[in-house]
Amino acid sequence: MNTLAIYSSKGGVGKTATAVNLAYTAAISGQRTLLCDMDSQGAASYYFRIKPKKKFNSEKLLEGEIARNIRGTDFPGLDLLPAHFSFRNLDLVLNRLAEKKRRQVLTGVFAPLKDDYDVLVLDCPPNLTLLSENIIEAADNLVCPVIPTTLSLIALEQLLKLFGKLDADKGKILAFFSMVERRKSMHLAMMEKYSKYPLFLKTSIPFLAEIEKMGILRQPVGATARLSPAARQYDKLWQEVWERSRR
Ligand SMILES: Nc1ncnc2c1ncn2[C@@H]1O[C@H](COP(=O)(O)OP(=O)(O)OP(=O)(O)O)[C@@H](O)[C@H]1O
Ligand SMILES: [Mg+2]
Repeated sequence: MNTLAIYSSKGGVGKTATAVNLAYTAAISGQRTLLCDMDSQGAASYYFRIKPKKKFNSEKLLEGEIARNIRGTDFPGLDLLPAHFSFRNLDLVLNRLAEKKRRQVLTGVFAPLKDDYDVLVLDCPPNLTLLSENIIEAADNLVCPVIPTTLSLIALEQLLKLFGKLDADKGKILAFFSMVERRKSMHLAMMEKYSKYPLFLKTSIPFLAEIEKMGILRQPVGATARLSPAARQYDKLWQEVWERSRR
């Protein structure tokens, strides 16, 4: 099982759009895929029109009680673990655990799924907290959307700093440029400056109205129009992530 966390500490950079579309692409390319919505905002769950069971909560997630909360989607090979509103307290619950084990909780939660799924995609909330440390520990790779602007790059630098503090393997980070607008000279300049770093993937995702419209259509872009520019670009991103991922 390959665990891919779609992660950035910065909000609104395209994490959920990436998680939903990569999970969909993974599933239609034949991988048994589970998308885990880790964000209490529940945006990924919303896109699939799936609500959590009322009895699910952050304690149950961290105790590993997830199998009975996983739901099928309309798409073969793609399941979803919906977020619960209580996930906003995940850090509080983690903080109550013993210092020694509180960074590996999510690793233990996902381990029993390894024979059921080929790919686990985590849609992460915009945090740089103990939950993020669990995500870094549990994920084989962190797929990090970066808008080519200063603040988004600062978020990536902060992630690298956290990796340094945890002595984690920075090779896990797969960054890509997200919501790219080529008419903006700042976007072009930032991409020119940073794309040479090996942690950046070659594929970028442009800013496209079609991706924004997912909020209305509530489906991955490929489910609405398989050969649209957005769907093709997510296919390319998936292929590059899959090639570079640590399986
Ligand atoms: N490539 C894109 N082109 C156009 N709009 C996009 C693109 N990617 C995301 N969006 C839109 O931008 C908004 C923020 O995207 P998204 O929810 O994926 O970001 P996020 O990083 O998950 O945010 P949060 O940190 O709040 O979870 C959404 O309205 C989404 O539809
Ligand atoms: Mg999100």
